Amino acid sequence: MSKILVTGGTGLVGQQLISLLHKQKHEVAILTRNPKKTNEYLWDLHKNLVDDKAFENIDYIIHLAGAGVADKRWTKKRKEEILNSRVSSTQLLYQKITSLKIPLKGFICASATGYYGASTSETIFSETDKPAHDFLGSVCDAWEQTALSFQQIDIPVTILRTGIVLTEKGGALQKIKTPVISPLGSGKQYLPWIHIDDLINLYHKAITDHDFTGIYNAVAPEHQTNYSFSKQVALTFKKPFLGIGVPSFLLKLILGEMSQILLEGSRISSKKLKTKNYTFTYPNLNKALESFVKTTQA
Ligand SMILES: NC(=O)c1ccc[n+]([C@@H]2O[C@H](COP(=O)([O-])OP(=O)(O)OC[C@H]3O[C@@H](n4cnc5c(N)ncnc54)[C@H](OP(=O)(O)O)[C@@H]3O)[C@@H](O)[C@H]2O)c1
Repeated sequence: MSKILVTGGTGLVGQQLISLLHKQKHEVAILTRNPKKTNEYLWDLHKNLVDDKAFENIDYIIHLAGAGVADKRWTKKRKEEILNSRVSSTQLLYQKITSLKIPLKGFICASATGYYGASTSETIFSETDKPAHDFLGSVCDAWEQTALSFQQIDIPVTILRTGIVLTEKGGALQKIKTPVISPLGSGKQYLPWIHIDDLINLYHKAITDHDFTGIYNAVAPEHQTNYSFSKQVALTFKKPFLGIGVPSFLLKLILGEMSQILLEGSRISSKKLKTKNYTFTYPNLNKALESFVKTTQA
């Protein structure tokens, strides 16, 4: 049994991860901007402030916190929030771990497939590829570089470059499940995805398998375009599918620069996970979506 400090533990991934950690008898503390429960501790990134009590006897940190990338239009201020909530938070955790001299067994950090950039091509990106120079590519790169600084103090680092997380509890899938389902833009852009159960299994692996360090693409092995993905969602949830894509110009008009995360996307390889003996519970989309139909009906 380990004690794990989870940042962003109140979020979509965090809540389901914490429920797995509790089932596995681990102890969990949470860093949040609004502590409510006894195991939740305050941090305020704007004031560079964090409650030292959160760090008592911890073995691992899982760092998930960050302002939602798709929640609001990307104004200059919002972009700063998206970047700072990830990079300054990682720096603050690093300062605390060094000043409190905590012998952490591992620092595990979220990142995103946005690292490879908002571009559509047949390229299959793997972990050794360079970051893109666009906004999300730069955010992910800065976030990862800050996380990797823990290695300098001999703390192992695991980074999960995550695709769109599929869960019935919110996130992208609920936004796609409109009464009539249509692809977006050309529909040719790839949409790297992962089932929530696989993602939380990977976070769990990072605290139980000491060989599971380094950077990994947390995406399912099956590649889907936005068109094939939307069609499969319509089929599984028995909703009408309108094959004509929502026009790109409309999405650009409504969402501004943020529309690129919907309109562009390349293929991402998950082969490195295989080398660490990870077997996906949901390697294909059909099976992944079916699991939510069963959950809804149960
Ligand atoms: N969900 C996906 O499809 C997906 C895909 C790729 C990567 N990721 C990454 O994985 C991580 C977890 O994803 P998620 O879907 O669980 O995210 P989420 O539901 O948006 O939760 C993130 C948590 O971060 C904290 N947070 C939000 N804004 C913040 C700010 N301005 N400053 C400090 N903390 C802030 C919040 O916790 P408090 O309110 O308690 O402080 C929130 O619960 C995120 O970093 C995300 O970028 C997610």
